[in-house]
Amino acid sequence: MSLILSPSLLSADFTKLGEQIRIMEKCGTKYFHVDVMDGIFVPNISIGIPVIKSLRGFTDRVLDVHLMIDRPERYIEAFANAGSDIINIHIEACSCVEETLKKIRELGKSPALTIKPKTSWKETIPYLHLVDMVLVMSVEPGFGGQSFIESTLENVKGLYSYKQKNDLSYDIEIDGGINKDTLPKALEAGVNIAVAGSAILSKGSIEDRIAEFNEIFKHYE
Ligand code: DX5
Ligand code: ZN
Repeated sequence: MSLILSPSLLSADFTKLGEQIRIMEKCGTKYFHVDVMDGIFVPNISIGIPVIKSLRGFTDRVLDVHLMIDRPERYIEAFANAGSDIINIHIEACSCVEETLKKIRELGKSPALTIKPKTSWKETIPYLHLVDMVLVMSVEPGFGGQSFIESTLENVKGLYSYKQKNDLSYDIEIDGGINKDTLPKALEAGVNIAVAGSAILSKGSIEDRIAEFNEIFKHYE
């Protein structure tokens, strides 16, 4: 299974967003992770539908949209129509998880289920046959630049062994505190898609940071 980097645009310089996206595309970036926050499910507010629409007109790469919003079922059509490819809903935020994942699929998009650090991966079991991806949060959602919570690797390991045992094929994505020190641990536990915001976009050259990540990926491919 190929390993994928999904840079989080939350750490981008929004006055240079297009420029930074072009740089990442030239480095081979296949996914862009877009963090949508509503100030209710998480204590922060970020970007939303109009930005996703603009991104869709600008890049053909996969838009990996992470909805950190309360009752995401209210906005699935809007995010699908805006041009999202993957729509991640939080299990903690949604009262009709199965219906919502099915709706994402019906709209021709990839359904993904997300869990916060304190939520056990086992809560996702009833839905794993419906998703293309499970997103394991390795920090409390809401802010970039936080430290990786080591115990969340248990969620990755649980999801990985369940997938192998049951012959399922969902991707396992990790999000939060991923850098060149924590990425190897996540890959060893079974992650195949890694989100990274501050480690790619807030520290010097984007090209150099992506090259460092690719170097690590090489050892696990
Ligand atoms: C946090 C967001 C993340 C965030 C990651 O709630 O879901 O995607 O941008 O940022 P880093 O990689 O800096 O932890
Ligand atoms: Zn995210």
